[in-house]
Amino acid sequence: MSESIVEKIKKQSNHLRGTLKESLLDEHTGAIRESDRALIKFHGMYMQDDRDRREERAEKKLERLYSYMIRLRLPGGLLTAQQWIALHEVTNAYTTGTIKITTRQTIQLHGILKHHIKPTIKNFDTVKLDSIAACGDVNRNVIAGAHPRYSPIHEEVFAYAGNISRMLLPKTNAYYEIWLDKEKITPELEKDELYEDRYFPRKFKVGIAIPPYNDVDVFTNDVALIAIIEKNKLTGFNIAAGGGMGMTHGNASTYPRLASMLGFVKKDDLLETVYAIATVQRDFGNREDRKLARLKYTIDKLGVEGFRKETEKRSGIIFSEGKKYVFTKRQDEYSWHQNHEGLFYYTAFVETGRVYDGENVQFKKAFYEVAKTGKAQFRFTCNQNIIISDILPENKNEIENILQKFGVIAITESASPVRRNAIACVALNTCPLALAESQRYLPALISKIELILKKYQLENEELSVRMTGCPNGCGRSVAAEIGFVGTALGKYNMHIGADAIGKRLNKLYKENLEEPAILDELDVLLKDFSTNRNENEPFGDYVLRKQIV
Ligand code: HEM
Ligand code: SF4
Repeated sequence: MSESIVEKIKKQSNHLRGTLKESLLDEHTGAIRESDRALIKFHGMYMQDDRDRREERAEKKLERLYSYMIRLRLPGGLLTAQQWIALHEVTNAYTTGTIKITTRQTIQLHGILKHHIKPTIKNFDTVKLDSIAACGDVNRNVIAGAHPRYSPIHEEVFAYAGNISRMLLPKTNAYYEIWLDKEKITPELEKDELYEDRYFPRKFKVGIAIPPYNDVDVFTNDVALIAIIEKNKLTGFNIAAGGGMGMTHGNASTYPRLASMLGFVKKDDLLETVYAIATVQRDFGNREDRKLARLKYTIDKLGVEGFRKETEKRSGIIFSEGKKYVFTKRQDEYSWHQNHEGLFYYTAFVETGRVYDGENVQFKKAFYEVAKTGKAQFRFTCNQNIIISDILPENKNEIENILQKFGVIAITESASPVRRNAIACVALNTCPLALAESQRYLPALISKIELILKKYQLENEELSVRMTGCPNGCGRSVAAEIGFVGTALGKYNMHIGADAIGKRLNKLYKENLEEPAILDELDVLLKDFSTNRNENEPFGDYVLRKQIV
């Protein structure tokens, strides 16, 4: 096999410029040129079209309704009040109006027309926000344990997320030239020792967990870092590598995989080690078949031992044996909490991560009002929720009143555990790869699952249910106790048996189920579970013990 087309596009792109400038100027179409569609991802955007309107547009002989999704680079998932205000205003001016909190601790905006991309990016730039490398074959948004209450070392770990993100940024000025009309700099300054002219073979994701919480689902990342705290101090990180959720229906050589433990390094050695891992993937990753190009396949090719040795050779840093740590929880810490410095935090439940103004709850109004007080910040979680954060005790009432007024507290306090733990990817109507609905459907399915849980007195069960519209795994379905993976409109493969804390994947249970069959299966399984489980046994562990999968 020869190099994939995307490899050629990257190399010929003149450091990610391609013909994006020309594509933007073409007023005859809302689309951009074919090769630029691969490149625009490195700038944090996807070209999409409204799939709900394809038929109607085709009948009228109109081109598809093309628009762009933009994803911010937000290491550790923090926005200041001022940045939230800018986000809110950009959302209203140029997008569908909904802010989507993603499962990687950042936000996506959809429906941006081609001529609105530059104003969008310019507005973000005024508050020091960018979308560089949020998509594409580069290091993506670095995620980190979200809740500052977790630990006094939260701030220190959060800084590592930013440092890793900066270290692995592509060294090109293309973003500034194309979107912000900045001048071209001299090519010598663009010499990119990490990415050269070929970037990574595929996306690359880094996550940092702060035990005992695994809210980042750390082992689903290419590079999984677990902060090791000894005598209340951060001493270093356990490093695992080779996680990834994606698979392709009908292609047995593709598979989801959790990261394998490489060992422990001292915190001062972290950046060099991560850099070395990145270069091993750059040099050994598959550049012929993109379906087999993620780090997980590289590791399985070299073997964990071989991969560890190659990394050590490049970094000069030897892994020591992984240190002991415990994960107890993967879901968010909802409602009010106070951290070691006395600051208050409110974790709000945002169903499927969609921040909008609805009938029962007005998230956008609430968060805009909060931002305008300047008395809180905003942190995203990998469970698609938001933490209104860093609130001084004297300001807590004011913030609470706003959250109350717009229904945020009521929705958070009244949602059932299964609803609060559920995750859905975007899927239709924007995702070009979606085979089935996900975020538009999961809330209704959860209502039906709630009824079954109630029937068997399981309504307080912290069950994790996740759905994706295709097997790419953006909503991490295969790491859920109950995972649904879309196969066609209205049809899902059902996977069960992952653990509750993110250390074991689930297994395929039944294929191509429609809703009635899904509910029948769940009825049988949950009834059985309610009568035969051991005390406090999670559902995922139960179905494995009973050899149901
Ligand atoms: C072959 C693999 C994959 C492909 C081709 C892919 C492609 C896409 C596309 C096209 C979107 C945009 C959907 C939209 O906004 O309309 C998206 C969203 C997203 N993807 Fe992926 N993806 C893949 C795997 C993954 C995996 C394994 C993860 C993480 C576990 C992930 C994380 C995300 C996140 C966080 C979003 C944002 C929306 C959300 O929260 O669902 N992706 N992906
Ligand atoms: S899992 Fe599939 S359908 Fe869902 S957002 Fe990712 S690519 Fe699209």
